[in-house]
Amino acid sequence: MCGIIGYIGKEKCLPKIIHGLEALEYRGYDSAGIAYIENNNLKIIKEKGKIVNLKKLLDFETPSYLGIGHTRWATHGKANKTNAHPHSVGKFTIVHNGIIENYSELKTELVKAGYKFKSETDTEVACAMLDFIYKSEKDILKTLNKASNIFRGSYALGIICSDDDNTLYALRNTSPLIIATSENGNFIASDVPAILKFTNKYLLLNDHEIAKITANNITVYNQNLKEVKKEIKTFTGNLDAAKKDGYEHFMLKEIFEQKQVFQDTINYYFDGTIDSLAKNFEFLKKFQKFDIVACGSAYHAGLIAKSLLEEYANIPVNVEIASEYRYKKCFYDKDTLVILISQSGETADTLAALNKAKNDGITTLAIVNVLESSIARSADHIIYTKAGCEIAVATTKAYLSQLAVFSLLSIYLGYQNKIIKDEELKNIFTDLKNMPNLIEKTLDNANIYFNIGDKIYKNKQIFFMGRGIDYAIAMEASLKLKEISYINSVAYQAGELKHGTISLIDKNTPVIAIATDKNLIEKTISNIKEVKARGAYVIFVSNIVPSEKFYDEFIEVINIHPILESILTIIPLQLLAYKVAKDNNCDIDKPRNLAKSVTVE
Ligand code: G6P
Repeated sequence: MCGIIGYIGKEKCLPKIIHGLEALEYRGYDSAGIAYIENNNLKIIKEKGKIVNLKKLLDFETPSYLGIGHTRWATHGKANKTNAHPHSVGKFTIVHNGIIENYSELKTELVKAGYKFKSETDTEVACAMLDFIYKSEKDILKTLNKASNIFRGSYALGIICSDDDNTLYALRNTSPLIIATSENGNFIASDVPAILKFTNKYLLLNDHEIAKITANNITVYNQNLKEVKKEIKTFTGNLDAAKKDGYEHFMLKEIFEQKQVFQDTINYYFDGTIDSLAKNFEFLKKFQKFDIVACGSAYHAGLIAKSLLEEYANIPVNVEIASEYRYKKCFYDKDTLVILISQSGETADTLAALNKAKNDGITTLAIVNVLESSIARSADHIIYTKAGCEIAVATTKAYLSQLAVFSLLSIYLGYQNKIIKDEELKNIFTDLKNMPNLIEKTLDNANIYFNIGDKIYKNKQIFFMGRGIDYAIAMEASLKLKEISYINSVAYQAGELKHGTISLIDKNTPVIAIATDKNLIEKTISNIKEVKARGAYVIFVSNIVPSEKFYDEFIEVINIHPILESILTIIPLQLLAYKVAKDNNCDIDKPRNLAKSVTVE
């Protein structure tokens, strides 16, 4: 969702800015633009659609050493050239990630003051507001500081002022923004991948802080306009993470990385002993109940967690969508731990839910993938997943790493609460050790799942069903399929289909039925027979090879302790979704309308 990159330094800025925008493509966008200073003149070039359209309009040899670039994911106004960033009003030119919530109020005030607007965006209003304030303040820092008290909502801004066209300014509240530094110049960026080719040294801006950046200097000011000393951090992640390594898509590469991701996540917290789990997770013991809050696939990971923690640890778990939770009445108390799950650590609704709990004095735990992200920085406790940098918009390896963490938490709390006994613990530990091999074995069967994908990709709708934990997996599998293939897909509790949805089942409608829970498998099989009798094309996903043939296709999941089984079950379904999308020629890594990191409400 909206990517920002800015550069000021000794080298030509256009190649750097375009590289940065390309590295941020994974966030999702529908137009791109750039503003730069050439011989003291401001130039703005923008275009609808992909960065390649913008590139055609640029001369990379342009002698410009200061510029800001942006990929826009439309919120206020259509995805077109006029609404694309940068926006320029009077002396100010800006790029923006986030939403200025009071833009409409501000616009009325600015229209009265004589400003005219070309676009439908909140960003042009913010830009005009800067110009308006500057007319009376006559000082850029004071202007930005005043604006940050006037703007409501979330924003990361990259700013150029024509009165000081040797300086790049940045201002942030809630939306992510880093400042990076190198020998040849300094950068602003929404995320680390944008600058990794040039430097791995960066610093973080806190809410309402302002950065004044020249080719050799970065100065950060707080809300009192006092200079703040910042620690320069070094990003130690893998610089090659953003390469496809011969895979056709990042999504496929990331699915195949899951063996390693599982190992990395488990090894980070577990050395083969229960003591290692105790050392890392002991703080969980004092809570009587959990509220798990997240969005998208992270929410689905929360549903798996609920199943496991209730079953094995006897702890009641309430799982909520963050955009709902942040506004609803919550019945939490000092015995409740609010757990936020987020790959990016920047999802606006999840962050807001975290802040709500914190304001109410409730303890919070963040399960996040991105180090030092906003959610990680705000929570009382952090458990990092070790998925590495995920580029494809549709999450796979980050989701799997969240399941791995919840398996560990359930093992630890299950043993603590004496539901898992010594013998069972020993067996689970053996299974944990075997898991990387079993993940590899599952991945080795990719062609089996691809062949099934080839048989169903032309369908207009595909249903998923399951009971208990298998329903939670079905929800994630269905989301994966629809987000990348654009085929309508819904997941149902197997027993619920006959209360309405069965009317949609027609001859050859694919129904993917998941049944790995041995206590519920017979019930699910009865439901499968109901849809089969109405002509459905049934793909049965189970760890038990059925003796009776009530299905058209069978995906066998390797049998393992139920605390780990969902990890093995989701992999074939990720691969199936991938193949269905590929057969439909979809833009798999960047599905239309979607964003990787959803930093607006
Ligand atoms: C977006 C992504 C999803 C992700 C969700 C939550 O919708 O496309 O893949 O599950 O945001 O993101 P988070 O970073 O908080 O896990």
